Amino acid sequence: MKRFALLVTCTSLIAFNMLAQNNITFKVDAAKTTINRNIYGHFAEHLGHCIYGGFYVGEGNTKIPNSNGVRNDVVDALKRLKIANLRWPGGCFADTYHWKDGIGPKDKRPSMVNTWWGGVTEDNSFGTHDFLNMCELIGTQPYLAGNVGSGTVQELIDWVQYVNFDGKSPMSDLRRQNGREKPWNVTYWGVGNEAWGCGGNMTPEYYADVYRKYATFMTGWSNETKIFRIASGANSKDYNWTEVLMKKIPHNMVGGLALHHYSVIEWNKKGPAVDFTEQQYFQTMKSALFMDSLVTKHAAIMDKYDPQKRVALVVDEWGGWYDVEAGTNPGFLYQQNTMRDAMIAGATLNIFHNHCDRVRMANLAQTVNVLQAVILTKEEKMILTPTYHVMEMYNVHQDAKMVPLTIRSNSYMFGNEKLPAISASASKDSTGAMHISLVNIDPKAAQDLAITLEGGNYKTVSGRILTSAKLQDHNTFEEPAKIKPATFQGAALKGRSLNVKMPPFSVVVLELK
Ligand code: AHR
Repeated sequence: MKRFALLVTCTSLIAFNMLAQNNITFKVDAAKTTINRNIYGHFAEHLGHCIYGGFYVGEGNTKIPNSNGVRNDVVDALKRLKIANLRWPGGCFADTYHWKDGIGPKDKRPSMVNTWWGGVTEDNSFGTHDFLNMCELIGTQPYLAGNVGSGTVQELIDWVQYVNFDGKSPMSDLRRQNGREKPWNVTYWGVGNEAWGCGGNMTPEYYADVYRKYATFMTGWSNETKIFRIASGANSKDYNWTEVLMKKIPHNMVGGLALHHYSVIEWNKKGPAVDFTEQQYFQTMKSALFMDSLVTKHAAIMDKYDPQKRVALVVDEWGGWYDVEAGTNPGFLYQQNTMRDAMIAGATLNIFHNHCDRVRMANLAQTVNVLQAVILTKEEKMILTPTYHVMEMYNVHQDAKMVPLTIRSNSYMFGNEKLPAISASASKDSTGAMHISLVNIDPKAAQDLAITLEGGNYKTVSGRILTSAKLQDHNTFEEPAKIKPATFQGAALKGRSLNVKMPPFSVVVLELK
């Protein structure tokens, strides 16, 4: 009898779970804030095989098709992805990097030791010209991270002059001598990286003064060259860092304040990239979704000092961070990329879209072969990861107007803890089409969504989905297309009501016309 009662309870619970609907209302007519395409930025550090073997295989390489040493397959894949900007050369590496070592004849360039990442010798064969020319090939905006930690003001302003000055000057003459007549006109400049840590272990008060000094010399009185300076920002929930910088740095001297947050379980126990448990999955997603609270709180502090939202919040390092793949150099941060990473990417981009009034730039860490990479390479082979596919599906939101939403989501329960199962965002593009991005992070339960459109007059819905049989699934060099977007048939539009059925751990992007 007791057993029977238990069965009934379980059955009704399951039935309830399947019937409970998630409700989303999109205020279509209220769409006004632009989702800055720069939210779709990436990050390329001299770390492991991101640059060497990833982007760059050397001019002499006859096995891997390349243009001036830069892999053609990687360039093509990033073009298709429409990456908005690319941050280089670090990360922690940036504050050890002396750009003059990376120009001129390659056989004359001095080498250095990459102290942060594996202690390997860096021969400086990939330098300023290589990077900026590569950005032109990809069709992306460069974002140069300047060395504040171990560099000088003079060194950074020389770099600005070298890459941006069209007239006659010692640095622009040197550039011409090295084969580049016209400047590259780089807009985005980081003034140091993680100044609270590998960038110099500074206090926010001290860094704010250092920043002011650097920023003063990087441009003229009124920033007539319009460079966008980005101050090294907070480590995750260090809200005091943001408070001090907003208070101490004159707002006409700063374009954006950075923020770094990784989806990590525990720094000394990160867990495997592929064979993770559901508990590890839940903890990773908890850390990823914490981004919402982080940007809300940092933005609220910024609002106090800058209600016009002139200064952008630039999340220039985000993504999942796990233990390195067995047998690889621990300093190279090489990890595989599964459907868990697709969940992180979809949910994080939704958060950025919904906060696009303040979050106007972001950089996934990192592009190739490092951390939550969009591309993995092995000799002449290249694969696209689930994260790549999410970012490609989502790029329809670039420069579109964000549609505000209200959401009531079912919970994804694990033990005594819960997370919202559904994350969503939407935008209207210049043609009037609306795109809705949805993520169901629940690894076991499908979710029914009842969506109401307040405004708009759409006749058709189509969509794409990214999902797989197992959460741990990933693409490999042997099976490169195991995970790829497919046509989605689970959405039905009737007037202003849209019903969607999402499988467990799936990402869906809908187009309404
Ligand atoms: O992305 C890897 C490292 O993480 C970066 O070099 C550093 O800025 C951060 O701590």
